[in-house]
Amino acid sequence: LRKIVIAIDGYSACGKSSTAKEVASILGYRYIDSGAMYRAVTFYFMDHHVALTNPKEVARALEQIHISFKVNPKNGTDTFLNGLNVEKEIRKMRVSEMVSQVSTIKHVRTAMVDQQRRMGKERGIVMDGRDIGTVVFPTAELKLFMKADMQVRAFRRQKELLERGQLVDLDDVVENIRQRDEIDTTRAESPLRKADDAVEVDTTHIAFDEQVDEVIRMALARI
Ligand code: C5P
Repeated sequence: LRKIVIAIDGYSACGKSSTAKEVASILGYRYIDSGAMYRAVTFYFMDHHVALTNPKEVARALEQIHISFKVNPKNGTDTFLNGLNVEKEIRKMRVSEMVSQVSTIKHVRTAMVDQQRRMGKERGIVMDGRDIGTVVFPTAELKLFMKADMQVRAFRRQKELLERGQLVDLDDVVENIRQRDEIDTTRAESPLRKADDAVEVDTTHIAFDEQVDEVIRMALARI
């Protein structure tokens, strides 16, 4: 069986990660959460007070950043920044509120895309993000573009945060998702958009299992 690359892009909180994780586990593929990488960079920048408008400072900081993932039997994958597990930190609202701004920086994107391409070299990978089908893996065998109604997205994200022990107001979640969508779709460097050959999936009304089955069906047709 040949191994393929599955690229899942879409708006914030549409269920990209949960779908990608499950599909990867069924196929025995590697799952890479590219958003976690941008979140880890953001966390580092905040922690080290990196001036986002100073290209030299940004470049120097990027050289100090090493991101890796480790499979965790409980919740999928943990993100490591310079050997430290930052999974919990990078999901916090303070990082969510900064990450899209950091992700507009060209140098940040180049560094992340390079690493993502290296990770996908062996294929057999499911990667989710905003520019995976358009920029990172334009030749991916299966590309999905996910969307869902705002209310549904916000509820799901709020529940997810609660499960991680964070109580966040629904209005704040909506506001954060809206802001990230706005920045992600309008930035100059690889903005979020559907690749021409991506299959659009609206997750508002479909049950999770059904959604995963559909993706597996599409993947098997391409293997
Ligand atoms: O996927 P997640 O919502 O965790 O991503 C956080 C943020 O990282 C996004 O809102 C976006 O600004 C940025 N991102 C990106 N390109 C990717 C993945 C994430 O710009 N491939």
